[in-house]
Amino acid sequence: MIVAGKHYRTVWMEGSTVRMVNQPLIPYRFEVIDLPIHRHTAEAITTMVVRGAGAIGAAAGYGMAQVALEAPDGREFMAYITEGAERLRHTRPTAHDLFYAIERVLRAIEGATSVAAARRAAVEEAERLADENAAAGKAIGEHGAPLIPDGARILTHCNAGWLAFVDWGSALAPIYMAHRQGKRVFVYVDETRPRGQGARLTAWELEGEGVPYAVIADNAAGYLMRRGEIDLVIVGADRVAANGDIANKIGTYEKAACALLNGVPFYVAFPSSTFDPKCPSGEAIPIEERSADEVHYVIGQDEEGALRRVRITPLGAQARNPAFDVTPADYIKTFITERGLCAPKEVSRFLA
Ligand code: MRU
Repeated sequence: MIVAGKHYRTVWMEGSTVRMVNQPLIPYRFEVIDLPIHRHTAEAITTMVVRGAGAIGAAAGYGMAQVALEAPDGREFMAYITEGAERLRHTRPTAHDLFYAIERVLRAIEGATSVAAARRAAVEEAERLADENAAAGKAIGEHGAPLIPDGARILTHCNAGWLAFVDWGSALAPIYMAHRQGKRVFVYVDETRPRGQGARLTAWELEGEGVPYAVIADNAAGYLMRRGEIDLVIVGADRVAANGDIANKIGTYEKAACALLNGVPFYVAFPSSTFDPKCPSGEAIPIEERSADEVHYVIGQDEEGALRRVRITPLGAQARNPAFDVTPADYIKTFITERGLCAPKEVSRFLA
């Protein structure tokens, strides 16, 4: 993705330092943060400095490479690797890409015949994962663009753009591709409370790409669908179960139910690293519950440009903050993957 004339990936590695776009500062400022050791990378995943399934997968892969570079020589090497992998596994629970990346780098380390070779293999595998992630986004764009007719009004939820991956994104990739092909598209962006990934991140990405859009309150999509003002919905996914159920940002299920009721096609875009063949159905997907403070407080910029955090609930109010929900396979028209399109219930066969 191009920012101020320069191509950026969302997360990358230079030497032993992981570098990533500092996402909580967007859309107010664009900054890159440096994370010299794997504990910092793990912390950045937990605190959502980096977020989005594909981006946290890439960050976890690089975090594993850092673990290998930091690990002491000799007999303690593998113990340090095991502990680092465990730390990274506990950063966030829902997105399958995170676990996929950790296991891939772990296997590369285990397959090496010396400590020096294991370090090299870890860095190479982390780079391979990031490259695959970027290539998958582009391929998702190519497979998904034909589903978007000229003049389409598209709803998306949360941010499944390049910030949620290494580049391109999942749900936004077909939109970017269709736009570049010269199709006229208009995107309705759910604000995506409580953290506002739609209002802050998706809107910022679309602005940069020159794609026309409007941010809508989370509650507005049903109204627009009923009035025939939305032609299709595309969202991303954080984990896809073997039966085709998907977990995505909280609120996705409501949009899918509304789309079904109103005859609006509902598409889910994701790379194969998001598919969890060991997870039988949506019931088994671990759903993250985050701090209630994300509901109590909002952060924004005041007229002087200062970032402020303000409370919007009464002192003493209780809040719940489930971060994801499950949409059953039956609600979804088609999956868009880097290998092509497939019916949700066929996913296990398609991605085998
Ligand atoms: O909590 P986040 O911001 O890490 O949530 C993940 C997401 O961005 C969405 O659920 C997205 O639609 C799928 S991730 C490509």
